[in-house]
Amino acid sequence: MSEVYRELFPDILVEKFKSIEVVGDIAIIKIPRELEPYRFKIGEEVLKRMPSIKTVLRQLSPTSGPYRVRGFEWLAGEYKTVTTHKEHGCIFKVDLSKVYFSPRLIFERFRIAQLTKPGDVVVNMFAGVGCFSIIIAKLKPILKVYSIDVNPYAYELMVENIKLNRVEDVVEPILGDSRNAVEEKLVGLANRVLMPLPELAYSYLPSAISCLKDRKGWIHYYDFVKTAPGEDPVEKLLKKISGMLNSLTPNWSIGSSRTVRTIASRTYQVVLDIYVG
Ligand SMILES: C[S@@+](CC[C@H](N)C(=O)[O-])C[C@H]1O[C@@H](n2cnc3c(N)ncnc32)[C@H](O)[C@@H]1O
Repeated sequence: MSEVYRELFPDILVEKFKSIEVVGDIAIIKIPRELEPYRFKIGEEVLKRMPSIKTVLRQLSPTSGPYRVRGFEWLAGEYKTVTTHKEHGCIFKVDLSKVYFSPRLIFERFRIAQLTKPGDVVVNMFAGVGCFSIIIAKLKPILKVYSIDVNPYAYELMVENIKLNRVEDVVEPILGDSRNAVEEKLVGLANRVLMPLPELAYSYLPSAISCLKDRKGWIHYYDFVKTAPGEDPVEKLLKKISGMLNSLTPNWSIGSSRTVRTIASRTYQVVLDIYVG
């Protein structure tokens, strides 16, 4: 991408531009304000240089709203937002205008799949189109993944993706708020809970713990952390959740932790692998 910009706009600092994001055959780019008048030309150029790309979209707004969907503007190629993305031998149909999807979580999805054990029963509280759930079911001989999302479009695509990847026996899609779904049918069933929605993870921790069989198992907890200079994001997050965890369970410990990605200056997405029991 930087090559495209350097050639088209030799006078502008290339470092200003963010890299290109590819979802299936759709390329997503961000256009700096001063280049807005040239956005369609940039789109055409991306299309010309990347033979596997059929559509170029411009990201207009970051993920927002309860369904965590981004805003886009069409720039070049086929006028569409639906595509099929391949990851870890799985296929995911997504509609970028209606559901959350990020190829940037590729390593994190693989990492969680590697941590699961044969016979695990998993609850994915914020499943989107089913990526974590389906990758786990494909890569490991687990018993069951209850895969919940409140967005009806994400749920529909998840149902399709479960069939596409032939994991109907293992992944059970559930439409609705995950707190309600847990209360209705998932209390005490799981030994592993995924919480890949930083905006709600903290307030949904009590539900995650109530999913665990005999109050024992793993919770993969994602949150955003804004740090002061010199502050460690993991330490800061631990301070935030310790009180809540202590009030919910007498025994817990951190198995591992990592910074998943940098969101903004000194703001990080962090995951804690919490062992309860
Ligand atoms: C960051 S996305 C998760 C992405 C997914 N894990 C993946 O790897 O693509 C968060 C998802 O949580 C869903 N969501 C938001 N509030 C929810 C709730 N109360 N209960 C269940 N799902 C919810 C959104 O619709 C969205 O699809």
